[in-house]
Amino acid sequence: MGERIAVLGTGTMGEALLSGMLRAGASPGDVVVTARRPERADELRERYAVQLATPAEAADAAETLILAVKPQDMGALLDEVAPHVPPDRLVVSVAAGITTSFIQSRLAPGTPVVRVMSNTPVLVDEAMSAISAGAHATEEHLARTEAVFTPVGKTIRVPESQQDAVTALSGSGPAYFFYLVEAMTDAGILLGLPRQVAHDLIVQTAIGAAVMLRDSGKHPVMLREAVTSPAGTTINAIRELENHGVRAAMLAALEAARDRGRALAAGGGWRTRCSPWTCRSRPCSSTSTARWSTPSTSTSPRGRRHWHPAGSRCPSGGSTGGSG
Ligand SMILES: NC(=O)c1ccc[n+]([C@@H]2O[C@H](COP(=O)([O-])OP(=O)(O)OC[C@H]3O[C@@H](n4cnc5c(N)ncnc54)[C@H](OP(=O)(O)O)[C@@H]3O)[C@@H](O)[C@H]2O)c1
Repeated sequence: MGERIAVLGTGTMGEALLSGMLRAGASPGDVVVTARRPERADELRERYAVQLATPAEAADAAETLILAVKPQDMGALLDEVAPHVPPDRLVVSVAAGITTSFIQSRLAPGTPVVRVMSNTPVLVDEAMSAISAGAHATEEHLARTEAVFTPVGKTIRVPESQQDAVTALSGSGPAYFFYLVEAMTDAGILLGLPRQVAHDLIVQTAIGAAVMLRDSGKHPVMLREAVTSPAGTTINAIRELENHGVRAAMLAALEAARDRGRALAAGGGWRTRCSPWTCRSRPCSSTSTARWSTPSTSTSPRGRRHWHPAGSRCPSGGSTGGSG
């Protein structure tokens, strides 16, 4: 029997990792997964012949635990499994914005935690996964984590302080390319092409350009210059892109994404909203936006919305609503 791995939260990301591990040679008998809904459990059992368990049973059974629930569900999951995670387990989290220190603080002292930021191409084995060690994770723990993510794409090691930038760049990155393809398809339609033709032209062009970027070893500027002839069509298009500030927009957009990632990592996003009508908070001394968006400051002027971490009780006794 090899090392046993448990996937806690087998949705899109969890299933992609499960499938990658099995394709890379893991035995289904060595993988335990969790599912909250019986129909999902049947689906996973049928598709992969893996063992289904509760999170606590899965934590008891495996040496490596992969936490793949949504960030707002992480606190509840950690509370459930913590008594079943001795400090010799490796805990790997793929949740965006959840820090290793948050996870470590909920587990036995010394438990090694590794944080990974992957992206949606995990579904086609072309993910970019950035891996960061928590305070107690060693080289061996990082190598074990890489073995899980290598079958579904490329991996890179980064200090955890860079994870917000990684999230902005490669975590959200696929969305920027999809957005670009959408805009270019519209442009094709403007130029008189049928939508499907425009779509096919752009998608294959994107694939070709991506393969050249990956395999040619050439800088993107050189690749672009190769299609930018003097007084030609491409340079006219690029002049318009520059005139419309597309490069500056990209810089600003990624900075905004990075800042949002920071706010989430600081606990400002995975939060529960109190009802403005039932919350009995006393007036807060500060009503600045920063205090409003910080969960630890859940006192606020009576009768107005305020926020605190999902799953936590409103200290004011107000009723709680959906998560942020
Ligand atoms: N999808 C991506 O490409 C991607 C990329 C980068 C990072 N991530 C990260 O990956 C994590 C998962 O995202 P996802 O897209 O895979 O979400 P998802 O499809 O919603 O999967 C989450 C799964 O966790 C289960 N779950 C929730 N709470 C649980 C609990 N307490 N115990 C056991 N299972 C529980 C859910 O069960 P139910 O089905 O019953 O709700 C669901 O199957 C997120 O933290 C996200 O930030 C995802």
